[in-house]
Amino acid sequence: MNPFLIQIPFFPEQASNFAFEIDLFYLFLFALTAFFTVLIGVAAVYFLIKYRRRSQGEVPEQIEGHLKLEIAWTVIPFVISMFIFAWGAKLYYQMYTPPTTDALEIFVTGKQWMWRAQHPDGQREINELHVPLGRRVKLTMTSEDVIHSYYIPAFRTKTDVVPGRYTVSWFTPIKTGTYHLFCAEYCGTQHSGMIGKVTVMEVPDYQAWLRGVPREKSPAEAGEQLFTSLACVNCHLENNKGRGPSLLNLFGTEVKLANGATVKADEAYLRESILNPGAKTVAGYPNDMPTFQGLVTEEQVAMIIQYIKSIGPKQGEAGQTATPAPAAQGVGRPAPPQAAKPAAPQGEQPRQD
Ligand code: CUA
Repeated sequence: MNPFLIQIPFFPEQASNFAFEIDLFYLFLFALTAFFTVLIGVAAVYFLIKYRRRSQGEVPEQIEGHLKLEIAWTVIPFVISMFIFAWGAKLYYQMYTPPTTDALEIFVTGKQWMWRAQHPDGQREINELHVPLGRRVKLTMTSEDVIHSYYIPAFRTKTDVVPGRYTVSWFTPIKTGTYHLFCAEYCGTQHSGMIGKVTVMEVPDYQAWLRGVPREKSPAEAGEQLFTSLACVNCHLENNKGRGPSLLNLFGTEVKLANGATVKADEAYLRESILNPGAKTVAGYPNDMPTFQGLVTEEQVAMIIQYIKSIGPKQGEAGQTATPAPAAQGVGRPAPPQAAKPAAPQGEQPRQD
C-alpha cells in the first residue's frame, strides 16, 4: 500500500482491490485542481500588479490575438481532460463489470431500514456482511421499497439498490478488519440508522463463521421448494414438452425470444420473467404465464433464481454442451410433475431454439 495515502487521516482504510487506485485517481484530481487554482490565482495577482494603470491618460496597447497561446490553452486542457476520462472510464468499467466466474455470490436486499444478506449456503445476516479475505465477492442487490445505496467506504464501492431491478457490486477484500456499511441514498426518517458492519475474515475464520451461523436451507434449496409450491414445475418441464420452456441448463445461455431478439438468461432476465412474464416471451411458447408480482418477495425471487442457477450449466460452460450442476451442492433437480413425463436425460443440451 502506498504509505503516503495512508498517512492522510481523512481517507478510510484501503481494504479492497479498488481502494488504492481510486484514491490515487482522487488524489490526482485533487493535485491537478490545486495546481491550476494556484497557477491562475498567482498569475491573476501578478498581472494585476504588472499591468496596473500607471497614469490617468494611459491607453493600453491593443492585442489582436496570439495563435500559439490559444492553441496551447486549448490543447493542454484537452489532453488533460481526455486523460481523466480514460482513467476514470477504465476504473468505472472494472468496478461495474462483475467477474463471471469464481466469485462468492451474495444476495442483498435493502428495505426501510435494514440490509439483509443471503449467503450461498443459506446463512443470513442483517446489517452485517462477513466476507473472506482475498476472494472475489459479487453482490446482487435489490430493494423491497425505495432506493437505497450500499456504501462501503473502506472498499470504495457504492451502488444504488433499486426496487424493481438488480444492481451488482463486486470487490475483493484485501485486509481483515471491520468496516462501516452505510446507506448512501436518503430513504426516509431512519435513513441515517440504516448502517452496519462489514467484516473481512481470514478464510479459515470465515469458514468457521459460516459453520457457526445457524444454517437454514440454502437459497437454491428454498428456491426448489418454491418452484414446486408455486406450481412452476407444472409448466416448466425439463423435457421441453411443458407449456413453458425447460429451465434446465438455462442459466447464462442465450434465449431466442418470440420477437426474434435474443437475451441472456441472467439474474435480471429471470427476475423480469417471474414478475412480468409477458415482457420477453420465449420463441415457440405462448404468452400465458401469470405474473408472480405481489405473490413472492424479492428474497423469494432471489431463491428461485439461485435454484435455476443450480440446475444451469456448470461455470464456464454456458452456451456449450452442458451437464446438470453436480449434486454435490446438495441440490437435486425437481422431480418430474406427477411422473407424467419422463425426466430429461442427463447431458441434455441447453435450450437453443
Ligand atoms: Cu436506505 Cu438510506
